Amino acid sequence: ARDPFIERLIATMSLQDKAGQLSIYSDPARTDGPVINPGLARQSMESLKAEIAAGRMTGLFNGIGVAAGRELQRTAIEQSPHGIPLIFAGDVIHGMKTAFPVPLGEAASFDPELARRTARAAAVEASAKGIHWVFAPMVDIARDQRWGRVVEGAGEDTWLGRHFAAARVRGFQGDDLKAEDSVLACPKHFAAYGAVMGGMEYNSADIPETSLRETHLPPFKAAFDAGALSTMSSFNDIAGVPSTGNRYLLTDILRGEWGFKGLVVSDYTSDEEMILHGFAADGPDAVVKALDAGCDVSMQSGLYNKHLPALVKAGRISMTTVDTAVRRVLHVKQALGLFDNPYRSLSVAREQSDVRLPQAIALAREAACKSIVLLKNDGELLPLARSARIALIGPCVSDKSDMPGPWASFPDVATCVTPEEGFRAAMGPDATLIVVRGSDYESPLDGGIDQAVAAAKASDVVVLVVGESAGMSGEAQARVEITIPDAQLALADAVAATGKPVIVLLRHGRALALTGAVRAAPAILATWFLGSETGNAMADVVFGDRAPQGRLPVSFPQASGQEPFFYNHRTTGRPQVTDDRNWKARYREVTNEALYPFGHGLTYSTVSYSGTEVSAPTLAGGGSIAVSAMVTNTGKRRAHEVAQLYIHDKVASLTQPVRALKGMKHLDLDPGESARVSFMLTRADLAFVHPDRRAFAEPGAFDVWVAPSSVGGVPARFVLL
Ligand code: IFM
Repeated sequence: ARDPFIERLIATMSLQDKAGQLSIYSDPARTDGPVINPGLARQSMESLKAEIAAGRMTGLFNGIGVAAGRELQRTAIEQSPHGIPLIFAGDVIHGMKTAFPVPLGEAASFDPELARRTARAAAVEASAKGIHWVFAPMVDIARDQRWGRVVEGAGEDTWLGRHFAAARVRGFQGDDLKAEDSVLACPKHFAAYGAVMGGMEYNSADIPETSLRETHLPPFKAAFDAGALSTMSSFNDIAGVPSTGNRYLLTDILRGEWGFKGLVVSDYTSDEEMILHGFAADGPDAVVKALDAGCDVSMQSGLYNKHLPALVKAGRISMTTVDTAVRRVLHVKQALGLFDNPYRSLSVAREQSDVRLPQAIALAREAACKSIVLLKNDGELLPLARSARIALIGPCVSDKSDMPGPWASFPDVATCVTPEEGFRAAMGPDATLIVVRGSDYESPLDGGIDQAVAAAKASDVVVLVVGESAGMSGEAQARVEITIPDAQLALADAVAATGKPVIVLLRHGRALALTGAVRAAPAILATWFLGSETGNAMADVVFGDRAPQGRLPVSFPQASGQEPFFYNHRTTGRPQVTDDRNWKARYREVTNEALYPFGHGLTYSTVSYSGTEVSAPTLAGGGSIAVSAMVTNTGKRRAHEVAQLYIHDKVASLTQPVRALKGMKHLDLDPGESARVSFMLTRADLAFVHPDRRAFAEPGAFDVWVAPSSVGGVPARFVLL
């Protein structure tokens, strides 16, 4: 049913007012940093206020600050034609002032509830800083690690991605979207942005509709089912149709099939970019195509403001189309409670009191610890004794600016804990900790290697922190080789040549192809970008105050050239399953196995799985089947294990993934303790998307594994009747 208040408003709005409600711009005036030129800042505020008073914008993004936000909002309420409140948006990708681990790292926790909690904490800080709407979560499935934005999502698996997408939306939006500390979520980028060819940023996604629906759309559906009331169209085209002009995507699927009631915002100038795509002839044509497709709000290009009124007058866009878009925007503002209280989330008191709360900082440390994945621990080198003499080496070890990680728009850099600070705090004043950079991120440092070698020689053990800098992943940071830069590899080789044991702590926004001394190191931890509490979390895990419990949400290949590389690929007619490599689907140089597979992660103990069992040989009708295995802690320390359920549909009308994740369970086991872990599967869990777009399961045999990762284990079998 239509809302009478909104309908009355629309009835009185001019075409230009409507265009304004469909246009959002980045905020040129408000920054959190020092004001370098107060005169210029004031001037920029004044021109912004003039635009707002003229009703030419629905909101602003990536500005920060409550006092100025209130001033802008007051202008909208008191001076714009209809007093419609502004909506303030921001890229709050992994925290606000308190930076949580990058989303990919957090996905390694395999713990969506953790992601809900960090999104909630981010919402508290974002709303305290005057933000109503976060351009997050990013829910793109990313199977090519060359793509830079892998770091912003939950990795390569759709099942995992769905659960993280829903959890993050619930965290951002809270129980009540109108609440002062709730923010509107914007699952992005709709759709298939993670499928860009060759992993190259902004490229085309040339995928069949079955892949679109099977792999890329489910996290969005999960996010909308969790209540997300906005989404952002992606930069890429799918099979030739740019998302911002894709009516099938933005209207038929999103609104038609899924009943989405929220708004679609373009990505930054992605409406205008349809001209360069060769999909729209000019600005007016781009507006027609975007609005007709179902893109309600134009981000940054200004094209709607510029052309929409004339296009309606010329009959190229119907008033119904415009009103539908405006209605969606006003409905979202209403859902946020902005009409009742335009100054919601613009509290001067909260701006001070609700940021960097002790519980947020503690959560950042917990999340950072849970994101760390122990890839390798030969000879139980880890955990380290605090009494060891340690050489802490690497470009980032004392570099605060690198700590928040990529796409951290608003972090409090000064309070970020570096590895050096974390290790010093953990080891105490009397310990021996020699700290050396050794290399810059992508180039050698004069004398760096010599200093690092000397430090290694003077120590019992080396903790080497290497990998990517924050700037090497994220938007527009596609890479040809997903390796550690040569300068850091040379550092690793030199340090390893001292013969001292080397513990590698990787920093990265994607899976890496490891080589040389890094690959050969006896202990390796994947630490991603851990955010504000980086150093503390690293020390917690290295010294064993917290045991590692993360699992890889992306497969680590043996070499860059294997990308796109993901565990749940289909099988070819010539799979390389034995040592016989002749005439098989493989590369000359490496086998097809991952160096570290999806789902992999060790603990400081050892854990064994008994063979998987099924509760019945068949599954019929609407019933369910239990799949279980005995999990035993065979080591000497308490273990946190993440048991994973995988299936494989043996024969189907479309070839099926070799394995597909369908469940996970966390369990804590004392040394010697066993527990039976059990999962339920129903027919719906076995479904796949068919060419007619319907998802259903086909009768036949299924293999199932309860396993510690996506490889290994002995399957059980049942037949779906
Ligand atoms: O939200 C982002 C998006 O992910 C990439 N382009 C710019 C937007 C707004 O900052």
